Amino acid sequence: MAMAQHKIDLQAPELAPPAVSVEHLHVRFGGGQSEFTALKDVSVTIPKGALVTMIGPSGCGKSTLLRCIADLVPVSDGTISVLGQTPRKAREGRDFAFVFQEATLLPWRSVLDNVRLPLEVGRRADTAAYADPERLLALVGLQGREKALPHELSGGQRQRVAIARALISRPRILLMDEPFGALDEITRDKLNEELLRIWKETGTTIVFVTHSIPEAVFLGEHVLMLAAHPGRVKAYIKVDLPTERTLAIRDTVEFIRITAHLRRLLEEC
Ligand SMILES: Nc1ncnc2c1ncn2[C@@H]1O[C@H](COP(=O)(O)OP(=O)(O)OP(=O)(O)O)[C@@H](O)[C@H]1O
Ligand SMILES: [Mg+2]
Repeated sequence: MAMAQHKIDLQAPELAPPAVSVEHLHVRFGGGQSEFTALKDVSVTIPKGALVTMIGPSGCGKSTLLRCIADLVPVSDGTISVLGQTPRKAREGRDFAFVFQEATLLPWRSVLDNVRLPLEVGRRADTAAYADPERLLALVGLQGREKALPHELSGGQRQRVAIARALISRPRILLMDEPFGALDEITRDKLNEELLRIWKETGTTIVFVTHSIPEAVFLGEHVLMLAAHPGRVKAYIKVDLPTERTLAIRDTVEFIRITAHLRRLLEEC
């Protein structure tokens, strides 16, 4: 037993595959005269356990990139590897989950039954592979609201349910496409802080699309900026702020300096 404590992890972190690796990705829609290049030569690596935010002008291909990673949009050229596998294999293995701008809950099912839904439609026989729905609801701050119906919840609460539902299959990667975009500022602020807490508690890799520069900087360890026409990587910066963040960090000189830098870059996109 004493030996086990001295076990050496032979897989050095730098040798482990990243959560997502995108290499020379091109995505074209349509064909012939009407062919449209949505993404051109995009290469980016999302490290395991990272929280990467993605920003860029409308139509620059943020959702397309997220959907390619999720195997929802076909790749025209280039490769994507998700935890060392193809996006298709990762999807089949439920290695990632998607959270959209709208919570898309079933209106006739309670909060708890909405979170449980993937358990019922899932192909995994072993329920132990899933997280406990009630614990997840507590994690997203909805303890006591298990029996409520979606129409009895606020927009922010519905989005918390969607996050809990996404976490039920214990995904190693969470792909979030403007999940808080439709919420008022105060609710969004609160959910931003909660998302950081959930990220730390679960260790899930998160890729988070937003239109808000402050949100991208507050949440992100890294910010990926895409430029439009055609969609391509404009910048991929490491956010030089402490990992422990509260909303007050937005008033610091360093935070303001980073957001100003990103705003200038965004103007060039
Ligand atoms: N299925 C499709 N067929 C044809 N064109 C598409 C398709 N999906 C996306 N596009 C086009 O690709 C471009 C990128 O779209 P995408 O939705 O990825 O942009 P986005 O950066 O997410 O924009 P927004 O910030 O407005 O959500 C847009 O010009 C869009 O019209
Ligand atoms: Mg989009």
